[in-house]
Formats: sequence, structure tokens, C-alpha cells
Amino acid sequence: MSKGTTTTYMAPAKINLSLRVLGKREDGYHDVDILMAKLDLADKLDFYNSRTTTLLCDAPGVPTDESNLVVKAVREFENAYGRKAKQKITLTKNIPHGAGLGGGSADAAITLKACNDIIGTNYTDEELHTMAAALGSDVPFFLNPVISRCTGRGEIVTPEPELADWSSPIVLLKPQFGVSTPSAYKLLRGAHRIKGVNYGAQVVDGIKLVNELERAVFTKFPVLGFTKMWMLGRPGVRAALMSGSGSTLFALTETIEQARELAEAARAELDPTLWSYCGYVNPKD
Ligand code: C5P
Repeated sequence: MSKGTTTTYMAPAKINLSLRVLGKREDGYHDVDILMAKLDLADKLDFYNSRTTTLLCDAPGVPTDESNLVVKAVREFENAYGRKAKQKITLTKNIPHGAGLGGGSADAAITLKACNDIIGTNYTDEELHTMAAALGSDVPFFLNPVISRCTGRGEIVTPEPELADWSSPIVLLKPQFGVSTPSAYKLLRGAHRIKGVNYGAQVVDGIKLVNELERAVFTKFPVLGFTKMWMLGRPGVRAALMSGSGSTLFALTETIEQARELAEAARAELDPTLWSYCGYVNPKD
């Protein structure tokens, strides 16, 4: 790649169609069984060859220093490469933070792929996977975000070819507050069920949707449990669930119009400050 060229990459968000917590491990993580799918909601990353690595971001409050997963991904790549990557990176955020939508993980995975492409290092999928897993449990999925089963702590990714062509309209709702992943797992101890909230598995097109972190997160934020039940009562809703460790809730609808109507009704009836997104899960590219 010659100097002076900007290369643009899109980093799609994910939802957990299913998240089961199998048990706590010696290393502090939890063994999980996750069904992960990408959305047509994505961040944009522009890469430009430069003298040093710098990160610019349009979203206020997103750190652009060494604590950002994009910069951590560059450093992980440089550790393997043994030289500096020297990229000016501009990150345009569309995926909200602390949402359970994998925004930071997606940005990190795309950064590894972009550095590999632009610098021409030709690292194999396996080598990129090792770098991705060191950055976070969700990062490897985003190297090839086809609908997949993720096990171990989430880093063992197995595509589900029989679901490759499945897609659905989806609406996402997120309150102003976010939930950090470590806090959600910590809340598992002492979590209880809120009366009137349905935590059971829901089945859509033969896919079993359940999130075993809901009990923990709804105990601390009951409003999320009530919002899930409100979503389940809306026209055309086939299933409603929390994504990952929250705070985003999603509903699969029969039509995209029903998804839009749900988002409007949620703002009118529940909370005018709700963030929402209507689109498709596992979109056909
Ligand atoms: O892997 P990642 O950095 O995203 O994980 C953040 C934190 O979330 C971990 O330090 C751990 O507390 C918790 N976690 C977990 N089990 C997992 C994934 C994450 O306990 N499978």
C-alpha cells in the first residue's frame, strides 16, 4: 500500500442470540456457550500510513490513548511483527459503548485484519486468532463474523453453516446507562428472578434464544427486565432478550416496519432518551 492512501473498513456489531454460562473457571473467566451473529450496524475505521500510530474518534468520551482496544490491537500486532505499524486511524463510532454489542471487540479485530492487509504481513487466520484472543474473549468472532457458536471463554469460534442464510428484522433498545462485562459476571452470585419477568428459552425458526446473564443484570437494573416484557407484548415480536452483558435489549420482529414502530412506541411510552436501532441480524451481504 502506497503512502497517502486511506483504506476504509467496517466493523459490524454483534448480538448474542443465546448466551449460556456453564460454570466458573480457575482463571476467573466463565465457560460459556454462545450463539453469536453480526448486525448491519457497524463502526467505520479509516487507516492511513503515517509516521506514528495515532487514533482519532468522533465519539465524545471514547479514550483514544493506549487504553482503547484499537490501540491495544495495534500493539498486539506490533509485538508479533517486531516493528511499528505506523497507522493514523480514524474511528467513527455508530455502535454504543457498554451495550453488549461488541463494539470495542469488533474495532480491535478489524484493526488486526487491516494492519495485516495494509502492511502485507500475511499472518494466517490462526495467527490472527491468537492475537485476537489475547485482546478479549469476543474478539476472535469478528475476524470472520459469520453466525457462529462460541465456546471456551468465548474465543473458540465454530461457524454454524446451517444458519448461514437465516436472517431477521431486529430492533435494539438501549438505555442511557451501560453495563460492564466483568460487573455482569460478578453479579451472577446473589442474582434472583424478578416476578413477572420471563427468563426461559424462546424458540424462533428452531433457534433457542436464552441469556443466562439476564438474571444477574436485571437484579441490578430491574428496568431492563420490565422493558423486555414490554417488548414481548408488542405486535410482531417473535422473541425479546438482552444481548451479552447488556444494557441493550433486542427483539426479533416479523417485519422491519414492526421493528420501527416498536422503537417509536418505546420512546413515547417508556423513555424518550432510549437509543434505538432497526435493521437486520445476520444480514445478507
Ligand atoms: O475477555 P474480556 O476481556 O472481554 O473479559 C472481560 C471480563 O469479563 C473478564 O475479565 C471476566 O471478568 C469476564 N468474563 C468472564 N467469562 C467470560 C468472558 C468474560 O467471566 N467468558
